Amino acid sequence: MSTVRIQPADGFDFRTDAIAPDKSISHRSAMFATLAEGETVITNFLRGEDTMNTLQIVRNLGAQVEDDGETIRIRSEGIKESEEILDCGNSGTGMRLFCGLLASAEGHFVLTGDQYLKRRPMKRVTGPLRDIGAKLDGRRDGDLAPLSIRGAHLKAFDYTSRIASAQVKSAMILAALSADGVCTYTEPELSRDHTERMLRGMGAGISVEGLTTTITPMTGLLKPLTIRVPADPSSAFFFAVAAAITPGACAVLEGVTFNPTRIEAFKALERMGAEITYDLKEDLYEPMGTITVKQAPLKAITVEENISWLIDELPALSIAMACAEGTSTVKNAEELRVKESDRIATVVTNLRLCGIDVEEHDDGYAVTGGTLEPASVDSFGDHRIAMSFIIAGLRCGMEVSDTECINTSFPNFFELLGQFARIES
Ligand code: S3P
Repeated sequence: MSTVRIQPADGFDFRTDAIAPDKSISHRSAMFATLAEGETVITNFLRGEDTMNTLQIVRNLGAQVEDDGETIRIRSEGIKESEEILDCGNSGTGMRLFCGLLASAEGHFVLTGDQYLKRRPMKRVTGPLRDIGAKLDGRRDGDLAPLSIRGAHLKAFDYTSRIASAQVKSAMILAALSADGVCTYTEPELSRDHTERMLRGMGAGISVEGLTTTITPMTGLLKPLTIRVPADPSSAFFFAVAAAITPGACAVLEGVTFNPTRIEAFKALERMGAEITYDLKEDLYEPMGTITVKQAPLKAITVEENISWLIDELPALSIAMACAEGTSTVKNAEELRVKESDRIATVVTNLRLCGIDVEEHDDGYAVTGGTLEPASVDSFGDHRIAMSFIIAGLRCGMEVSDTECINTSFPNFFELLGQFARIES
């Protein structure tokens, strides 16, 4: 359980092209290789625990993986039954997407995870997958891992989801690729769309109209991807908040994806008053470029729309809210309760320890900006809570315990932060 202390920082000029590669895209690039004929070539793959677990599972499913530390090359001849238990570690994305991918694969598979993942709800994927014929089970009638899957014949479906979740959408799209007819999936609000972009790039029959995705089953294997993973906007956002709350600071974050379903938190920070510019550099599968963030006085905002576009950034945004003038409110964000921790409870608990006035609501919270005070807080095993409160420490000094979880998504976080902040462990 490593505890980290961070000292208050003065204005800094920080520029980096080394923000951790995107977690969502890294998971998918490795998984989708099992649907391709020929060699998938991935550069800038996220070497965090979550995505390395996914890569190991892809190996366990029979793929040949060559990794020279720079480039990952994957060749698969279709998914093979594994004699190993497939360990997704801390990753909800890993577990939920593998449910969709394995639902029709020949054989029997067991998915498990760490103590946190084993508490997270899986019925949102096992339920609709069972409805189309998948043979999935787990504790609490298929809601909790370990999960067992026996590949089965899947029926075509028209499914309307009540939650805007890219994980559920992706699991169902993966299942649809081997269903017995054309399928549609409709979501209440657009969630991140990497699965659709990448599978279309591989030649899959996927079209999107409004909130409905139509999937035509594969008739053979798909074309392999050659992909350079862009930097993760969710990881970049910690440095955006660091710049926004530190007088005289500026952060230049290069190579970040500008996918509109991923940069809503930057837009929210802009609404709060931070100066942010976007410089588009290229557009292959995903638009990407440089985001520059400069400190300016922050004012309170309400966040209630397109919540799935900034769900992962809400803990870090709550730190900016704590430094803003007035009361900021987050609504319609009940999904926060089922992330790596109950992020409504963990944000509220930790902000209160820092002397900030926060009201807890079922679907979010209200944060009244004030003066952050040094505190000793816990990460609750949640990487985004750990990094958010380390960033808060740039204002006031902070001690954060149980920080190993940061390795799940941002292994070089401390190396980058150490370029302008004093950190001790
Ligand atoms: C992810 C989707 C989101 C997000 C998670 C990654 C993905 O979860 O919170 O960190 O890669 O599809 P939901 O789709 O469940 O909202």
